[in-house]
Amino acid sequence: MNDTRIAFIGAGNMAGAIIGGLLAQGVPARQLSASNRNPAKREALAREHGIRVEASNSAVLADADVVVLGVKPQVMGEVCQELAPHLRPDQLIVSVAAGITCASLTRWLGQRALVRCMPNVPSQLRLGASGLFANDQVTAEQRARAQEILAAVGLALWVEEEQQLDAVTAVSGSGPAYFFLLMEAMTQAGTKLGLPAAVAEQLTLHTARGAAAMACQGDRSPEQLRRSVMSPKGTTERAIETFQAGAFADLVEEALTAAADRAAELAQLPDR
Ligand SMILES: NC(=O)c1ccc[n+]([C@@H]2O[C@H](COP(=O)([O-])OP(=O)(O)OC[C@H]3O[C@@H](n4cnc5c(N)ncnc54)[C@H](OP(=O)(O)O)[C@@H]3O)[C@@H](O)[C@H]2O)c1
Repeated sequence: MNDTRIAFIGAGNMAGAIIGGLLAQGVPARQLSASNRNPAKREALAREHGIRVEASNSAVLADADVVVLGVKPQVMGEVCQELAPHLRPDQLIVSVAAGITCASLTRWLGQRALVRCMPNVPSQLRLGASGLFANDQVTAEQRARAQEILAAVGLALWVEEEQQLDAVTAVSGSGPAYFFLLMEAMTQAGTKLGLPAAVAEQLTLHTARGAAAMACQGDRSPEQLRRSVMSPKGTTERAIETFQAGAFADLVEEALTAAADRAAELAQLPDR
């Protein structure tokens, strides 16, 4: 990020996580700036991160190479129209807003270099997983910058078609909630089997953490790992057979398809 200057418009949770991640990676605070309308939040941002924080959105644009749009989708149109007259053609726009298409951003900002990202909630812990899409105005250097910005909060992978961001939304955007649901169900089942609720919950959470850590090592696939803990006629095999008898994989596919369809629908709302 040699000397790349990044301005964050709408410095809330996601932008704050990215700012924290970039600083932790050694990006100097002087390269980052943010806007926030709320005086208390401005003060908190400046105190926590030591970056320049301005009240006006356009005030942070002048010396930025990259402008990260971190406002909620429903205000994106209004914010972009406010920014448009102040942007330079060489500036890269990175939007993290769910369901705001490049077509909408182009309508509001004019034809320009755009990267659209779909991050997820664990970005707050720098354990996020984001999908990124670049339009055809984005240079190789700008692509590398966007990659570094999102990589500051976790995994950042590119998709080649913008529509694939609906699938990213279904897999990793909404994905944390699926694992939370499984944790809830395992905790409830463990409690019904006689464990104190707190014990069932702690065992579930740490099992999820351990399983994710093993799977993320990458030397064996999740299927290989699953088979390695399923001894013939053992307890795990019995549980997995029960999941499969209930068409677990079909249900997961149905749920993710519903999420992807909803992502596509949301992108068509009149304010997008
Ligand atoms: N959080 C996630 O895990 C996650 C995951 C995927 C995608 N996203 C995307 O990230 C974006 C931000 O989400 P978030 O969770 O970070 O929301 P957030 O914490 O509410 O942040 C949004 C920020 O935008 C500010 N804002 C609102 N209107 C503005 C305006 N006209 N000009 C400048 N700033 C304005 C808000 O300020 P006030 O507080 O003063 O209103 C707030 O600081 C959303 O578009 C969302 O789709 C978030």
